[in-house]
Amino acid sequence: MSRVFNFSAGPATLPLPVLEEVQAALLDHEGTGMSVMEISHRSDTFIEIAEQAEADLRSLLKISDEYGVLFLQGGATLQFSMVPLNLLDDRHSADYVNTGSWSQKAIKEAENFAEINVVASANNCIPKVQDWKLGKNSAYLHICSNETIGGVQFSEYPEVEAPLVADMSSDILSRPIDVNKFGVIYAGAQKNFGPAGLAVVIIRKELLGKARPETPSMLNYTLHKNADSMLNTPPVFAWYISGLVFKWLKQEGGLEEIGKRNVRKAKKLYDLIDSSDFYKSGVKLEDRSMMNVTFTLLNQKLERDFLKTAQEYGLFNLKGHRSVGGIRASIYNAMSEKAIDALVGYMVDFERENA
Ligand SMILES: Cc1ncc(COP(=O)(O)O)c(C=O)c1O
Repeated sequence: MSRVFNFSAGPATLPLPVLEEVQAALLDHEGTGMSVMEISHRSDTFIEIAEQAEADLRSLLKISDEYGVLFLQGGATLQFSMVPLNLLDDRHSADYVNTGSWSQKAIKEAENFAEINVVASANNCIPKVQDWKLGKNSAYLHICSNETIGGVQFSEYPEVEAPLVADMSSDILSRPIDVNKFGVIYAGAQKNFGPAGLAVVIIRKELLGKARPETPSMLNYTLHKNADSMLNTPPVFAWYISGLVFKWLKQEGGLEEIGKRNVRKAKKLYDLIDSSDFYKSGVKLEDRSMMNVTFTLLNQKLERDFLKTAQEYGLFNLKGHRSVGGIRASIYNAMSEKAIDALVGYMVDFERENA
């Protein structure tokens, strides 16, 4: 077996012990003689898997009973519509901070349902909170906590009156956070905690029960909550693997430890970029992402070569998003420090040979 260092932005690398556990249980899950993919979602075996996953997620993020936790299909993208459909209530407008591509996609969808007030815009930094132009009667304020494409991340969250809604697809579970600051947190699984096909929604219970009357059942948070996220057949395999990742995160020391590790990993890369005249970061220092390290080569003609030769070092999927180009190293929880050291070593070598 030869696994490469996979810096993909998502679907992204998963912890090896989790993949090994999945492999070992693939044909026969705990003596049932069946794979998790083959058992009923209503069976005791799966209910136990689902409940344990929720309990572990709650313990990692210290989620109180004031919040419901949903495991849904449709990825994070479906949340761009579910949030306004469920939270607007009798209001007509919502506030959005635009920090890049994913914020813009969320805004575009929400515009189907409400008047959207963009309180501030930037794409290489987080605009200062004191400059935000908050609406007077907005149902909620939406942020993207980490812009996966630009590599821009909130280091702290704003204190606002309206419920704070965060797309945490690319930094959930990467550090400790205070869930109580949020009305809703949502995230697609395929970066920090599982395979694609699943999204987690953490919602303050007092925000339930406000969906617009025309909201389809499958888009209604309250109906999902009342059905324990089993309004229909859920993505059982993705849910199961996510549960294993939650267990792995706990074994690794929880989010305090993971957070420290993630800062250490990102710092190694940014230190190298900042100390060189060969690589360059376009993101403001204090708003740089700990998850998606984006940079360019000063001589952009060398980028193709950089990406090609990287593969000879076992370093894959470093190409920046097609909309912005450049290089992007996505270094989510499952990315080892060994992989970072390999990337740093390669970058030093490449600079030496090409500067
Ligand atoms: C910040 C962010 N939001 C939303 C999405 C969309 O997620 P999905 O493909 O699960 O709908 C992504 C990633 O792909 C993302 O990085």
